[in-house]
Amino acid sequence: MRPLLWSSLLVLGLSSALQASATGISPITDIKITTCQEDNCSVPGYRKVAQDLNKFSRGSFVHLHFTDLPTSAGSNVLLNPITSIAVLQGQDAEMGPDWERIEGNLNDGNHGPVLTMFVQRDPDDSPIDSVVVKYGYDSHAAIGYDRLPLDLNVGTGGQWVHLYYRKEGYRPPITHIATKACPLPRCSMDDSWTRVNRPILTGTFKRYLYLFYKSVPGERPITSLNLSLRSQQDSDEDDGAPRESIDTGVRFKDSNIYVNYRRGRLGDRKDVLDNLAVELGNNPVPYGWNLASFDHDPEEAVPNWNAQIVYRTGEKTLPKVPTFKFKDDGSFKIVQFADIHMATGPHSCYNAPSSMTCTGDINTSEMMERVLEAERPDLVVFTGDNVNGMTSNDAYSTILKYSKPVVERGIPWTIIFGNHDEEGDLSREEMMRSVQDVPFSIAERGPAGISGTGNFVLQIHRRDRRRQPRRHRHRRSGFDAQSEDSVYECDHEEELDEAMEVSDKEDGRFTLYFLDSGAYSFNLAYPGYDWIKEDQVEWFRQTSQAITSHYPKDKVPNALAFFHIPIPEYALVDDDDNDDNDNGDDDGEDALRKEENSKMVGDKVEGVSSPSYNSGMFDAIFESKDVRATTAGHDHLNDYCLDHRGIELCFGGGLGYGSYGRGSIYRRSRVFEILKNGDRVDTWKRLDDDELTIVGQQTLFEGPKVRDPSSERHGNTNSGNRNRKGERQRQIDDLLERLRQGTQIIMGGVGGGGAM
Ligand SMILES: *[C@@H]1O[C@H](CO)[C@@H](O)[C@H](O)[C@H]1NC(C)=O
Ligand SMILES: *[C@@H]1O[C@H](CO)[C@@H](O)[C@H](O)[C@H]1NC(C)=O
Ligand SMILES: *[C@@H]1O[C@H](CO)[C@@H](O)[C@H](O)[C@H]1NC(C)=O
Repeated sequence: MRPLLWSSLLVLGLSSALQASATGISPITDIKITTCQEDNCSVPGYRKVAQDLNKFSRGSFVHLHFTDLPTSAGSNVLLNPITSIAVLQGQDAEMGPDWERIEGNLNDGNHGPVLTMFVQRDPDDSPIDSVVVKYGYDSHAAIGYDRLPLDLNVGTGGQWVHLYYRKEGYRPPITHIATKACPLPRCSMDDSWTRVNRPILTGTFKRYLYLFYKSVPGERPITSLNLSLRSQQDSDEDDGAPRESIDTGVRFKDSNIYVNYRRGRLGDRKDVLDNLAVELGNNPVPYGWNLASFDHDPEEAVPNWNAQIVYRTGEKTLPKVPTFKFKDDGSFKIVQFADIHMATGPHSCYNAPSSMTCTGDINTSEMMERVLEAERPDLVVFTGDNVNGMTSNDAYSTILKYSKPVVERGIPWTIIFGNHDEEGDLSREEMMRSVQDVPFSIAERGPAGISGTGNFVLQIHRRDRRRQPRRHRHRRSGFDAQSEDSVYECDHEEELDEAMEVSDKEDGRFTLYFLDSGAYSFNLAYPGYDWIKEDQVEWFRQTSQAITSHYPKDKVPNALAFFHIPIPEYALVDDDDNDDNDNGDDDGEDALRKEENSKMVGDKVEGVSSPSYNSGMFDAIFESKDVRATTAGHDHLNDYCLDHRGIELCFGGGLGYGSYGRGSIYRRSRVFEILKNGDRVDTWKRLDDDELTIVGQQTLFEGPKVRDPSSERHGNTNSGNRNRKGERQRQIDDLLERLRQGTQIIMGGVGGGGAM
């Protein structure tokens, strides 16, 4: 649960890096703008925002890059977090003395006016922790993001380009609310007004109804908000405190929809509205937000109404998730929910068993609830394709929906991304931040300057029995709020942490690696699915080395790695009928393969949808001193664990009803139980049948990692192949990867392979 900063790991050493921040939400410390003639600019140690700020304007390729590293590149100078961003038009644009100009013209090479970006680092203001760029005039970012009013392609005739940023913490109170209906979503008021992320209504009324708000110092803040359906006559009804109303002009039968609000006293800072959003899908409201009620006869359904208006009244601190520790009996349980494919709305079912009444995502949630009740895990990992992008027009809402069963039970959880998560309205960056807004999530964005979002590592620690107080009430490790009535309540973790205080070094007894395996390949030489990039493989190697070098040889903590798309070695399991294909060319590989296949536990029902390029992740895992097993998602119908050269390659087995399956096969979920304080790992699967049947129970490994010298030989052969192919491949790869960065990943309909 501690973020591991790539460079600070090397500079500061492991223990300090593992304790850098408890929240995982690190502020942005620097922004750079690059201009390139080709779409190939990058800044080492910085995260590149994929969207070109000059899109369709015939200018240079202009990109934003940001970092959350605490110091500037190559120096020890501490950077204060950025707290405001502004973009000004014109050659001689200037801001006040406390603003810093960022080098570069956002309209470089086109006919538009010079655009200059300025940032402010105000120690009294709350930091910006995320920036994203969106195309189109009706774009929006995740709940919690604000948008700079200026179109960053203004005057160029190119694509509409908007910069959004996210600022946690204090926001000024809202003092004015307005609505405006427009024939098109290109609906705006003057720049003093902020438009709420999406329209309240679209469609039948042939117009888009938007909410706007602003904050004017010295005006009385708004403290509550409601909607109601009223006829003109009784619009002045008053029940106590004075209420102001806005007639939205949207008519339904004999009534209009009104937005009503009340004001507090001048200067109120508590319980005042400071953010407003429209959420789709009737899913849980964002943590710390409220739902504006809609006062109308429930019998009278309002046509086309699928929006919830939600508002925030001040900051809420998320409950703290304590350091993971083994339970008294030395165990720690992880449940993997693979490919849940949830939608914003109710969704539908694909290939459900015919004996089952399946109505949509609700059945996926029910399955998750049953597994959680039966297993009571210490950690839940959603291993990608959590959000079914194509049916998620509000991915933030989908995230709140799929995490609900876990959050309600106070169980820590994390995610990795699949190939479908990003096909809805949000990017990986926004979804990562959205997940981090939800209680008990421990997900990390991962180090800047490394491909992918969500490369991170965490450790499960041992309990230090010597320091345990005699009459300690909290027997469970991990998180101790499993009962129904303790949702969001966890006042004793502080106590738990103190009680369980352990020494810094060598207390990690098990390591979990999470890696973003991307979505689709943009490399024509290697079409199909994306892969874990070489820089991620290198990050893994160095991180693993840094962790394991602290331990004596026989005490290295074992580890498990999670990613969505199976690495190519998963495909080494033979289909029975392929055995004839070998032409006597047997150098021992086939014998090894046969032996490995005979030890496979579980089913291979479809082809393995690995990338067609092998970036060497398996070799890195094989050569690491700690990783013993990996688990993937992606192939819904494969659920096996295959021992390849001593590494167990597992699949979670598809769980979601909202994507493909097979009627004759129950949806399933994998469980990992770490035993003996990290020495041994058992695994099994739960089927979504009436009995929640356990299948495929096996011990994955026990004892410290020992590499078998006979499989070493095969390892060299394999990585030799990779290196021979590697040189030229890497160059092509590099080029295409950079190209890929510039193209927003909206890949609707691209299927490839059998996997979703
Ligand atoms: C980008 O590509 C162009 C053309 O191939 C090359 O001239 C330029 O040096 C490259 N820039 C970077 C930053 O790699
Ligand atoms: C909104 O509705 C609730 C419940 O009916 C009520 O208590 C509250 O005062 C209303 N707020 C406004 C601003 O009308
Ligand atoms: C699926 O959900 C629906 C709606 O709650 C329910 O009626 C049905 O029994 C569920 N099916 C199963 C197998 O749980």
